[in-house]
Amino acid sequence: MTSPVLPTPEEKPQYVRDMFARISRRYDLMNRIMTAGQDQRWRRMVVEMCNLPPGGRLLDVATGTGDIAYMARHLRPDIEAVGVDFTFEMLAVGREKAPELGVPFVQGDALNLPFADDSFDAACSGFMMRNVADIGSAFAEQRRVVRSGGRVVCLEITHPRFTPWRKLFQFYFFHVVPLVGGVISGARDAYTYLPHSTLPFPDAEGLAEIMRSVGLRNVHYRTLMFGTVAIHIGEK
Ligand SMILES: C[S@@+](CC[C@H](N)C(=O)[O-])C[C@H]1O[C@@H](n2cnc3c(N)ncnc32)[C@H](O)[C@@H]1O
Repeated sequence: MTSPVLPTPEEKPQYVRDMFARISRRYDLMNRIMTAGQDQRWRRMVVEMCNLPPGGRLLDVATGTGDIAYMARHLRPDIEAVGVDFTFEMLAVGREKAPELGVPFVQGDALNLPFADDSFDAACSGFMMRNVADIGSAFAEQRRVVRSGGRVVCLEITHPRFTPWRKLFQFYFFHVVPLVGGVISGARDAYTYLPHSTLPFPDAEGLAEIMRSVGLRNVHYRTLMFGTVAIHIGEK
């Protein structure tokens, strides 16, 4: 399904950057409100599913304000976590949040990661894949920078299979979220884009298939929050 609210693939990078730049200061607060505080629990699960070895290196792709990278450093002070994102304003909020946790924030594109092959033990992303112009290329880049045997982990919104949940979720997402997002962030259009961005996004099995198509092995996933959120895991 397409939507008049969505940018074309060519317009998408600039559109997404501008949107996150505008909501960067209210992004974390809105996440906590929208998910009733569950989002940090999901990020904790992502870090655990990265299966990092002692002293390992994690790349948090599209780190935004750094919540997954910071969660990783909080849970595993022995590891190094690097955050990369193409929106300067999101990174600026991230840098200010917890400098004592020593997370390097790098400005860069998920479709052309500024890191060498095989240089991380795992790569992860949270709520990024809906926003990229080419999902396969984004997974391929994460696979490239991860060492052999390392994991690629993806946290994203997904389509609930159970029809009553799907209807309830759609009402919440398409009607309540834009209203609340508009009040909290002053950018109702950004929180209108958000539900619409899920429409053309593949379902959980479709996303797993894209991961397999770029050479990731043992791909599996787990759904959460009444089937509205999924964590996908693959190995290089
Ligand atoms: C919904 S936020 C997620 C932030 C963070 N991962 C989290 O868990 O809250 C999406 C982020 O993806 C970033 N993003 C989207 N496309 C990107 C790309 N091609 N390269 C780098 N960052 C990208 C945006 O700048 C934004 O910060």
